[in-house]
Amino acid sequence: MDKLIIKGGNRLSGTIPISGAKNAALTLIPCALLTEEAVTLRNLPRLADIDGFQHLMGQFGVSHTIPGKRPEEFGRNVTLEAMRITSSVAPYDLVRKMRASILVLGPLLARTGEATVSLPGGCAIGNRPIDLHLKALEAFGAEIELAQGYVRASAPDGGLPGGSFDFPVVSVGATENALMAAVLANGTSRLTNAAREPEIVDLCKLLTAMGAQIEGIGSSDLTIHGTRKLHGATYRVMPDRIEAGSYACAAAITGGEVRLEGADADDMASTIDALRQIGVGVEADRNGMTIAANGKLKAQDLTTAPFPGLATDMQAQLMSLLCLAEGTSVLTETIFENRFMHVPELARMGADIETSGRTAVVRGVDGLTGAEVMATDLRASMSLVIAGLAARGETTVRRLYHLDRGYERLEEKLQLVGADIERVGDD
Ligand code: EPZ
Repeated sequence: MDKLIIKGGNRLSGTIPISGAKNAALTLIPCALLTEEAVTLRNLPRLADIDGFQHLMGQFGVSHTIPGKRPEEFGRNVTLEAMRITSSVAPYDLVRKMRASILVLGPLLARTGEATVSLPGGCAIGNRPIDLHLKALEAFGAEIELAQGYVRASAPDGGLPGGSFDFPVVSVGATENALMAAVLANGTSRLTNAAREPEIVDLCKLLTAMGAQIEGIGSSDLTIHGTRKLHGATYRVMPDRIEAGSYACAAAITGGEVRLEGADADDMASTIDALRQIGVGVEADRNGMTIAANGKLKAQDLTTAPFPGLATDMQAQLMSLLCLAEGTSVLTETIFENRFMHVPELARMGADIETSGRTAVVRGVDGLTGAEVMATDLRASMSLVIAGLAARGETTVRRLYHLDRGYERLEEKLQLVGADIERVGDD
């Protein structure tokens, strides 16, 4: 396993290219199951989870080709082709490594009339149930049974009739699964209180490019008119708003000035508002945004919420920034039940944070000190890197496989803007 060694104190300055969005890519890839024609996705990030998903797609007989790109370039284009589905089973040993595999349930069911997918199980940040995925598919006419740790979904002969489902809780993944099932249904389907994250809009744009008929894109009220067949398409994945927000926090905590090339400010309004309230300058334009900080940070109360509220995936990174703000900030995590695992690790670096349930009280300190810290989940790992960039001395971050799931060539991108960071083998 690798580890990162960060020597803090460098003011970041320069340009970071923002990669394609991991959480968009993970729902765009399974769309290839919905057609026998080729689907080409451009600007896919080079991440462990993306490789894992492509491997899973091979399980169903989906071929993928990756046209050559210079290795130093970020991202890559992948063509996926599901001419024939040879299996509709997503096995435990693949699903357990990547929860997002559950996103094959809807498309497999829509294309073949059945799907058997291992239950994904929980993860570090919560038990991550999938009851809403299953209820939405049942509302569209699927028959669902749970047995031996698998979900088995089947459609009536002739395919899903379609139907309506009102989400009691906003769920990104359940909305994605429902959308991918509805586009090939025999009738019209409707989703209310659906998730509105930019990644859902990206999914709707790809499905539309493939011939789907979806109304209300970008809203929480979606109407899908099922079509008999979908055709192939070529589509460029949206830029990663969480990666961009993470590097914005890195620039801000070092008092630096960094351009985030390719970031889309329209996807990041709540993060930009939070940064500006903390005292960070954000100037957005058509091709990206520039983050500028002068070292003075102000405490700010923040609460996560479904889009357009503040993304839960930005909570840990903003918390690191607030550790060095003047004053006391209260962070409230409303989406996941256990998303403060970065707190004890930040405390080992000298942060003053008290948690109670879903609330963390962060009292700003004058400085952080480098330490050996342990990554526990993807965004928590990034919060430790951000803290290490500002800490006095050396920070070692272990268990980098968490980071490698969500940040393409992180240390290279930070080295581009002057961070003293290197990846070494961990004995
Ligand atoms: C997606 O997860 C993202 N992952 C997460 O990003 C992100 O944090 C989350 O959406 C919220 O924005 C991907 O897109 C691959 P949810 P997802 O269903 O779809 C509850 C990252 O760091 N719920 O919107 O699993 C659930 O427990 C990752 O990149 C049910 O109760 O999230 C949670 O409390 C982490 N039943 C809430 O809804 C269900 O059937 C929101 O979960 C489904 C969810």
